[in-house]
Amino acid sequence: MDPEHITEVVAIDGPAGAGKSTAARRLAKLLGFAFLDTGAMYRAATWRALDGGINLGDHTALALSTQQMDLRIDESDGKQTVLVDGRDVTEAIRSPEVTREIYRLDAILEVRGHLVELQRHVASLRPTVAEGRDMGTVVFPRAKCKFYLEASLDERARRRFEELRSKGIEVDFQALRDEIEIRDRKTMTRAISPLRPADDAIRIDTTHLTLDQVVDQMAARARLVF
Ligand code: DC
Repeated sequence: MDPEHITEVVAIDGPAGAGKSTAARRLAKLLGFAFLDTGAMYRAATWRALDGGINLGDHTALALSTQQMDLRIDESDGKQTVLVDGRDVTEAIRSPEVTREIYRLDAILEVRGHLVELQRHVASLRPTVAEGRDMGTVVFPRAKCKFYLEASLDERARRRFEELRSKGIEVDFQALRDEIEIRDRKTMTRAISPLRPADDAIRIDTTHLTLDQVVDQMAARARLVF
C-alpha cells in the first residue's frame, strides 16, 4: 500500500514510558479516530514465536511465523483485547519475557514489512491515531499530524514502576530502569526503522506534564489540521 496517500493520521512516536499509549488512546477518543497500538503487534509476533518454540536466531522462521499469524486487536470501550490465532493473549504479550525478546523480531526487515502493511491497511480505512516507534518516519510519512513524546529516563522508569505496582507486580527499580535504557538504545541504534523524531514532528517533553496536559496539547494541534 502506498503510504503517500495515507494522510488522515496522527502519528505518535517516542521511547518506552513516555506516556504514548494512554495519551494516544485518549486523543483517539476525543477526535473520534481509530486507535492503533503498533507495539502490541510486535509483542503479538514475539509471543507467537516464543509459544511456537521458534529459534529466535532464525530470521526466516520468525518472518514466516509473523506472516502466518492471525492477529486481531479490539479497542472497544477503551479496553484492549489481543487475539493471536484465536487465543486471548492480551496479558501474555505484556510479560517481561516477551518484552525482553521483541528486539529479535523488530529488527527483521520481513517482520516489519508485514506488520507495516497491516498498519497501513488499518489506517487507510478510517482516520487513525497510530502509536509506535516509526509512525512519523516510515509507516505514515504523510501523516497530517506528528508528535514525538519523550521524558527523562528516571521519570519513564518511575511511571513503569508505578504501573507494575498497581497491578501487584513488584520489581526492582534499578533493574527496570536499566532494562528500559537498554531496550531504547537497541531501538534507537537498529539499522531498520530506528526510533527518531520525524523532521516535521512536534516534540513534547512529558517529564513534568500531567496526562491531561499532554492530551490537551496534542488535541489543540490536531484540531488545527483536521
Ligand atoms: O510500545 P511497546 O513498548 O508496546 O513496544 C514494544 C516494542 O516493540 C518496543 O520495544 C519496540 C517495538 N516497536 C517497534 O519496533 N516499532 C513500533 N512501531 C512499535 C514498537
